[in-house]
Parts: sequence; C-alpha cells; structure tokens
Amino acid sequence: MGSVILTGFMGTGKSSVGRLLARLTGWEFLDVDAQVVKSAGRSINDLFAQEGETFFRALETAELLNLVGRSDRLIIATGGGAVLDPGNRILFKKLGLVVNLTASPDLIRFRLRHSDDRPLLNDGAAREKIGLMLRDREPCYADADIRIDTAGKKIEDVAAEIMAFLKTRGSMWND
Ligand code: S3P
Repeated sequence: MGSVILTGFMGTGKSSVGRLLARLTGWEFLDVDAQVVKSAGRSINDLFAQEGETFFRALETAELLNLVGRSDRLIIATGGGAVLDPGNRILFKKLGLVVNLTASPDLIRFRLRHSDDRPLLNDGAAREKIGLMLRDREPCYADADIRIDTAGKKIEDVAAEIMAFLKTRGSMWND
C-alpha cells in the first residue's frame, strides 16, 4: 500500500514533519498517539500511570491494525515506541514506505525540555536515559526504507528530503 510511515524517537519531529508533508502532498495526516488518546478518551500520561505501558502498547497496536484496509496516501506519525513490536514493523512495511527520523540524545533532550506529556521521560529526560533507550531501540529504528538525520534542519528541510525520496519511488507517487 502507498502510505508514508514516520518512525523515530520522541522529539525527532515525526508529527511536525508529518503535518507539513501532508500539506505538501495533499495526503491525509494521521497521528497514532492522537488516535489512541481519542479512542481511549484518556491522555497518554493517564494511560501509562493507571494502566501501564503494556496496556498502552496494546492500544497503539490496535490503532495501527485499524489502518490496514484504509485508503492509501496517508502520512502516519507513529509513537516513538511503536517500532518495538516486530509485528508493528511488519505492518508498517505493508502500509508503505517507512521513514525514520533521527537525532542525538542531546538534541532530543533539548527539544523535549518543556515537554511533560512523555511518561517514559517525565523524570527529567536525562541524557543518559535517552542514550540508553536509543541504543536499545536502534535495530528497530534502522528497520526503515530511509533514515533522515534531523540535526540542524528545519521541518521544511526534512519534509523536502522525504518529498525527494518519494519522487524516486515514482510508481507510488503517480498511481
Ligand atoms: C513513546 C513515545 C510517545 C508516546 C509514548 C511512548 C515511546 O510518542 O507514544 O509516550 O515509547 O517512545 P512520541 O514519539 O510521539 O512522543
């Protein structure tokens, strides 16, 4: 199927880039975290605090499964941990092109310095913790069609790189 799936750690810009990419392509934007919050009627912080991460992951996978059979041409921003489930990664490949956004631990820490809605980092988003999580998750993020380093780039630059990549996949773009 012909959608674009954005993966990457928290703070790599998946939602901002995804929204812009949707405008540039005219495709529909979908944020999986936002869908989880909408379906559950609860915030991500609440879900983690009251039900735990496993429960949240099950809701996340359920939202991803809902996308199968939906129209092509979606720009899908996934939550940073959605790649951890091998089944989810298989699903991403079925849905379309997987674009992984990257950033260093320092940059992620800086971008998330005012964020209070990332339960896994709410204890201060320590550089060491981000580094360890990135290292553990690296093979999952590497499982992508293209990886784009977002350091020193504006949202517009990253979106333009993805557009250029999509155009190299002409069949997906034109049909
Ligand atoms: C998570 C990332 C978050 C959200 C949840 C867990 C993670 O999404 O799904 O807090 O495990 O990396 P963003 O990457 O959109 O912040």
